[in-house]
Amino acid sequence: MKTSKLLTKFNTSIFTEMAQHKQGKLNEGIEIVDLSIGSPDLPPPAFIRDELARAVQDPDQYGYALTGTQQFSEAVEEFYSRRYDVQVDAHSEVLQLIGSQEGLVHLPLILTNPGDVVLLPDPCYPAYQTGIDLANAQVFKMPLREENNFLPDLQAIPTDVARKAKMMFLNFPGNPVPVTPTKAFFEEVVQFAKAHDIVVVHDFAYSELNFTEDKLVSFLSVEGAKDVGVEFNSLSKSFNMAGCRIAYLVGNEKIIEAFGKLKSNLDFGVFLPIQHAATSALREGDNFLKETSQLYKKRRDVFIDGLHRIGWKLDKPSATMFIWAPIPRGYSSLQFTLKLMDKAHVVVTPGSAFGKYGEGYVRIALVQNETILRKVVDQIKHANIL
Ligand SMILES: Cc1ncc(COP(=O)(O)O)c(C=O)c1O
Repeated sequence: MKTSKLLTKFNTSIFTEMAQHKQGKLNEGIEIVDLSIGSPDLPPPAFIRDELARAVQDPDQYGYALTGTQQFSEAVEEFYSRRYDVQVDAHSEVLQLIGSQEGLVHLPLILTNPGDVVLLPDPCYPAYQTGIDLANAQVFKMPLREENNFLPDLQAIPTDVARKAKMMFLNFPGNPVPVTPTKAFFEEVVQFAKAHDIVVVHDFAYSELNFTEDKLVSFLSVEGAKDVGVEFNSLSKSFNMAGCRIAYLVGNEKIIEAFGKLKSNLDFGVFLPIQHAATSALREGDNFLKETSQLYKKRRDVFIDGLHRIGWKLDKPSATMFIWAPIPRGYSSLQFTLKLMDKAHVVVTPGSAFGKYGEGYVRIALVQNETILRKVVDQIKHANIL
């Protein structure tokens, strides 16, 4: 059997190497702490699980859900208004997704033709590249450099590239670089997108893991943003519902309509009990969101303060579950990751797994409790690799 040429584009070598190395350690009987996975380690709160359990017992909930329920879209409308001061219309500007990953990989199919250019941050979440590959579009990389506060430099994009570009992906607060969004930057993006007729796709998956007193800025809160773009949001990180596979796209009506058309030919809606639980989460979850941010903030402080004490100086992120940590000189990010596994028995992700400009960094996910994080600091100290 011969598989398609498309499949050759999907290269997982770094992650495969890491997984094999970790398995080798486990086979030796070594206990390994995993700080590499960007998935919450805690469950959703009881009120969400109760709603799911109630709906699962209802025999009427087992048919096809063709799309998102009206109640879900209305809950998104209320959530966006309450949490980000953004008005979206439940009927025409909200589309439910089977997790945002599904949406991210399919969206380029409705916005690009083969050969079109897509502007992509580097480093970035790998699913964006997958979607671009599926659509046979081409990438132009926008490096995220420390000297530019890890923001893409729009002025550095050549005019002929901007003219050919059809889409731009953005992700704030970001994974793997946990930079928070500013209104001023988004305003510049809207102007740029209007000048070159580019669709902006903002991934707001970490919109609720926020350690500041101010609300995080939704792309759609900027004037004119809805004319040029859409925003992904998800219940995976905010409500610890990653396994439930439920998320949504909000914004430009034409894009929402076109994407709904593609999706009606691709898949069906999310299992109804999950839709009901997600609706409750969006309506009644504000206290839980606050508690979750406090929990990650505490973990961040315990871990980074501990690393400072042993000589690894890192900036404290003001959002997300990630630390973007510069590594000591003399190692590639993959070498340092393997060293951490061998000597400190902890798994993190090499920055180079997220793009060439991720070299020189590792991504550490705060997905273990404070006791384990303290233990990891101790193990790194005794590993003598800094
Ligand atoms: C930046 C970013 N976007 C999207 C996703 C996918 O989230 P979902 O569970 O909604 O598919 C992730 C998951 O890690 C992510 O980090």
